[in-house]
Formats: sequence, structure tokens, C-alpha cells
Amino acid sequence: MNAISTEEQRALHVSIPSRIDVARVRQDFPILAQQVHGRPLVYLDNAATSQKPHRVIKAEARYYAEINANIHRGVHTLSQQATESYEAARDTVMRFINAARREEIIFVRGTTEAINLVASSYGQRLVPGDEILISEMEHHSNIVPWQLLCERSGALLRVAPIDAAGELVVEEFERLLGPRTRLVALTQLSNALGTITPIRELIALAHAQGAKVLVDGAQAIPHLKVDVQALDCDFYAFSGHKIYGPTGVGVLYGKAALLDVMPPYQGGGDMIKQVTFARTTYNDLPYKFEAGTPNIAGGIGLGAAISYLDRLGLEAVAAHEHALLDDATQRANATPGLRLIGCARAKASILSFVVDGVHAHDVGTILDLEGVAVRTGHHCAMPVMEHFGVPATVRASFAVYNTHEEVEALFAALGKVREVFA
Ligand SMILES: Cc1ncc(COP(=O)(O)O)c(C=O)c1O
Repeated sequence: MNAISTEEQRALHVSIPSRIDVARVRQDFPILAQQVHGRPLVYLDNAATSQKPHRVIKAEARYYAEINANIHRGVHTLSQQATESYEAARDTVMRFINAARREEIIFVRGTTEAINLVASSYGQRLVPGDEILISEMEHHSNIVPWQLLCERSGALLRVAPIDAAGELVVEEFERLLGPRTRLVALTQLSNALGTITPIRELIALAHAQGAKVLVDGAQAIPHLKVDVQALDCDFYAFSGHKIYGPTGVGVLYGKAALLDVMPPYQGGGDMIKQVTFARTTYNDLPYKFEAGTPNIAGGIGLGAAISYLDRLGLEAVAAHEHALLDDATQRANATPGLRLIGCARAKASILSFVVDGVHAHDVGTILDLEGVAVRTGHHCAMPVMEHFGVPATVRASFAVYNTHEEVEALFAALGKVREVFA
């Protein structure tokens, strides 16, 4: 068994008391007040997308109502205000993940685009025989771009296995690293299992072999404190919509020294310095990677979401979510016929399970009738399903606004599933 690193222990938040006033927090999220099928909505599909607080909704609405204009190129007042708000959001992101420079924050559509950007741009330096190392628990967004890159470049994709608990087998990961490993791409928190990977240790191991590391932070970003300088990752990707922000906006962090020498990902407006038919020169960072009019409202909304989460305090949020996960795990272990998928020692926010003799989709449908929203399916992680020999799981995932009463409601609704399928 792998030893639990101090990073993982910290991530368990066992000693940090929850200081979240959940009733107060819930008032910030207008959608939570509604009923579904005549029952109070119990929203436990946060790993797919989180709900949005008033602050985010207002920030987007304010942009359209008061300062809507295209950014960067305008001399008029609205354009300048829009540019200032958008660039302020970049600064908020920079501080939130402790990037060294604002130029290292590239706005993209989301995690998927961030990973594709690195695969397309950084990937151009890969040659036949080079290797890319990922893990068995990756989301399809952190598998397929590398398969495409392998097809283009002749590089080989290597996959580090997970064990029966859903933990990465670090010794195998280390064994698969070699002098031909150019890129390592790993999740910090598995969306299908809830496993927290010992990412700092894995990054150090990869760097020792001279490989660059991309961290898929889509799930980690709302739950774990991320410090890209302390992690020393080369790239970090996340989506706005999983951190209480809008859809259609996300972030690629990259070390400036790498981004500087990488070729552009897309061509168009904003990413150029000068265009002639003979030759085009490219803009400075971060704009070199931001071709075309971006999701301006989304960027501003993402800044508002991060400020909101910052004000609550990520440690307190994580402690609250951990208490919910503990509660749910204990109830799950005491429920006959329910099998947890993913029992890693370091987990956050995600409870994935199957119910004996009932397809996950049927479980999800019955829970929905009880007002409980969960995700069912392969969670865009088909290799994980294959590993555990199941076609699909039911996934309940927690956010800051969830309560212990909602955990109770989930298990009461699971009782209905048993009644229906008795
Ligand atoms: C671990 C992980 N990586 C990548 C993604 C893709 O994120 P997006 O669809 O926002 O690009 C997700 C989304 O569920 C995810 O959970």
C-alpha cells in the first residue's frame, strides 16, 4: 500500500472544524429554494456542475446591462470598463492559485479546452517514441487529447494503474516514468471515485525524469487549496462552472517560460501583434493563446465566483464537505446491498456507488422523483468503470451549500429504491 502523504492528510481536513453557516450560504443560491416533483430540491450533482450564487449571476447580468462592449481594442469608456473587469478577473484567478504572474493565466472555455490547448501546442515538440503518462482514473478529457496527440506524433500513451480502493499505484507510476516520458497528465481529484492523488509527490517524480506535468484540476479546484508554485506543476487546468462560476469559461495556468516558447493554439483576433500576408507576429502572453472575442461575461463571473469562495474560506468549505462525505460514507457502509466504488484513504466530496441488482440509471430516476439530483453513468471515465467491472455508478457529490439533512434525504430516497426493487 502507498503511504498517505502529508498533502493527502491535510486534504482530509480532519482537524479543521466546519465554520460554514450553511443556512446563510443557501440563501446565496436562488436555485436551491425550488421544488422538484413536489419535493425540496436536494442537489447532489456538484461534480458535474455547481450552482451559482447571486454574486455570480449579478456580475454577469451587470456586464450585459451596464458595460457590455468588446475588450482590449476599444478606446471608448464601455470597452475600457469591460477590459478592466475582465482583466481584474484574471488577477483574481492568479491570486487564487498563487501563480507568479498574471501572464500565466490563460482564459479558455474549460478544462477540456485547456488540455487540448497543451496537447495541440506543447504537443508539437513530441516525436515518435516519446511517451505520455496518464493514470487509469482520468476523465475522458484527460485521455482523448493525448490519444489524438499520439496519433499525430507517433508518441506512446502509458497508463499508470489504480488499485482495488481506487488509489493510484505510485510504484507502478514510478516504474512507467522513463527518459522518454515527455508529458505526465494527472487528475488531482478523480471525478468518478473521489480519490485525491498525491499530486505534489507525483509531480516531483515526473520532474526527476525531465517530464512536464499537466494537472487536471477540474474537480480539485472547488475543494482543495491549490498553489501552483508550491505544486511546481507546469500546467494546471480547471473549469469555471465547477467552482460556482459560469459555464463556457475556464483557466489554463502554465509556467511563463513554457508558454512563451509554445506555438499559438488558434489564430485570429487578439493573439496577433502584426499581420501581413507575408508574416504574422504573435501577441505577448496571455493573449497569444486567447484568439477571438472571449467569454467576457463568463470571465467576469468566474472572478466573482472565486471571490465568493475566498470569502467563505476554502479550508472551512472543505471541512464542511468532508463532514458530509464522512456522514454519507458511514450511512453507505451501513446500507445492505450498496457497494461503494472508490474507497481511497484520501477522498473529497464524491460518493460513488452501485446498488445490487438495480441499474444506476434506475436508481437515479427514482431519486429524482424524491427530489434528489445525482449523476448516474460512466462519468466520462469508462476505464474506471471497466476497472471495477460495473457499467455505471450512482454519484452523489457535495458542495458548500449541502446539509446533513440532505445526506439523510439521499439515504431515505435510496430506501425507496429498495422498496421498488424488493
Ligand atoms: C476530472 C475532470 N476533468 C475534466 C473534466 C472536463 O471538464 P469540462 O467539461 O468543464 O471541460 C471534468 C468534468 O466533469 C472532470 O471531472
